[in-house]
Amino acid sequence: MPPAPVSAALRRIKPSPTMAMTAKARALRAEGRDVISLSVGEPDFDTPQHIKDAAIRAIQAGHTKYTDVDGVPELKDAVAAKFKRENGLDYARNQITTAPGGKAVIFAAMMATLDEGDEVVIPAPYWVSYPDIVLMCGARPVSIAARLEDGYKIRPEALAAAITPRTKWLILNSPSNPSGAAYSRDELAALADVLIAHPQVWILADDMYEHLVFGDFKFHTIAEVAPALYDRTLTMNGASKAYCMTGWRVGYAGGPADLIKGMANVMTQSTMHASSISQWAAVAALNGPQDFLVGFRKSFEERRDLVVSMLNQARGISCPTPQGAFYVYPSIAALIGKRAPSGAVIDTDEAFIGALLEAEGVAAVHGGAFGLSPNFRVSYATAPAVLEDACARIQRFCGSLS
Ligand SMILES: Cc1ncc(COP(=O)(O)O)c(C=O)c1O
Repeated sequence: MPPAPVSAALRRIKPSPTMAMTAKARALRAEGRDVISLSVGEPDFDTPQHIKDAAIRAIQAGHTKYTDVDGVPELKDAVAAKFKRENGLDYARNQITTAPGGKAVIFAAMMATLDEGDEVVIPAPYWVSYPDIVLMCGARPVSIAARLEDGYKIRPEALAAAITPRTKWLILNSPSNPSGAAYSRDELAALADVLIAHPQVWILADDMYEHLVFGDFKFHTIAEVAPALYDRTLTMNGASKAYCMTGWRVGYAGGPADLIKGMANVMTQSTMHASSISQWAAVAALNGPQDFLVGFRKSFEERRDLVVSMLNQARGISCPTPQGAFYVYPSIAALIGKRAPSGAVIDTDEAFIGALLEAEGVAAVHGGAFGLSPNFRVSYATAPAVLEDACARIQRFCGSLS
């Protein structure tokens, strides 16, 4: 057999480590092991009924054919209305795109704009796909390490230091996957001051977890906080996390018309549009009742509080309380160099995660995958009783290290 043909672009990237951990946990469970997975990246709630009903109606109405590449006009209008209503942002129809998932929006934006030698600034810890999408496009990801004492948010000085004449984009994800950290209005304004001084830099605001913020925290997005950046910001969001629609594949964005057109050209030759049926479901999600989000947020907030409190009681773990999403990103700096009862040396966060899975059957993702170590990511999109069991196991494991 000839060797599999592998492109230079493929050699530059790695398969998603979060998906790999989810698959590993599933395989161990199939072998009969008692495994709890804290690695999933999706809400554990079902898609609301009114959204499912809209999809069924779309099928029955014959909305089963190709649509415009960046979505049906009704969906673009629903997205524009959402940006106006929730973010105070005005986008005309030709400034709106929709795609098969938020990931496809990001991919189209990068593919439409990046050349070899371009740099993309990505605060770490980051969502695993950003650097690999940038690498696939032949450009260079430049990461800025956020600090535990800053709640895993970058400071304006660090952003200023990372920008060079080759910087084309900053990717700003708030609330963040994997840390849950979200930037306040003032924090965004301080970053915007830096960006205003560098007109060659575009901003991709990944607002995927907008609706999952807790307590008094108020969500803001950078184009709204700093109108001076509106002309070079792509404000991106999607149906996946807010409406429990990860499998439906609908992402969307608002931005300058030229960029939106370039992204449509990329999509015509690659992904094409989101499923016609999913698009009509997303129209119902965006235009329909939003009140179910209140219960949804409350339930995630309770779980966040449970997990943060229990993890901070584990020996050697330090876990800040994030403002949003459904992840926490504890530091295990105090455990590096320790030894597990099995003899395994905890010299990296990857070793910690491997030994934890082996000893206690808890699957989480190591910080190295998100560009900031030594940490691990816990997804708390799981029933509270399961979270309690998992955190008790983590406490026992940390207590067993010597
Ligand atoms: C920060 C962030 N952005 C974008 C996405 C992409 O979401 P999707 O492609 O499922 O719409 C995800 C999914 O995990 C995410 O965590």
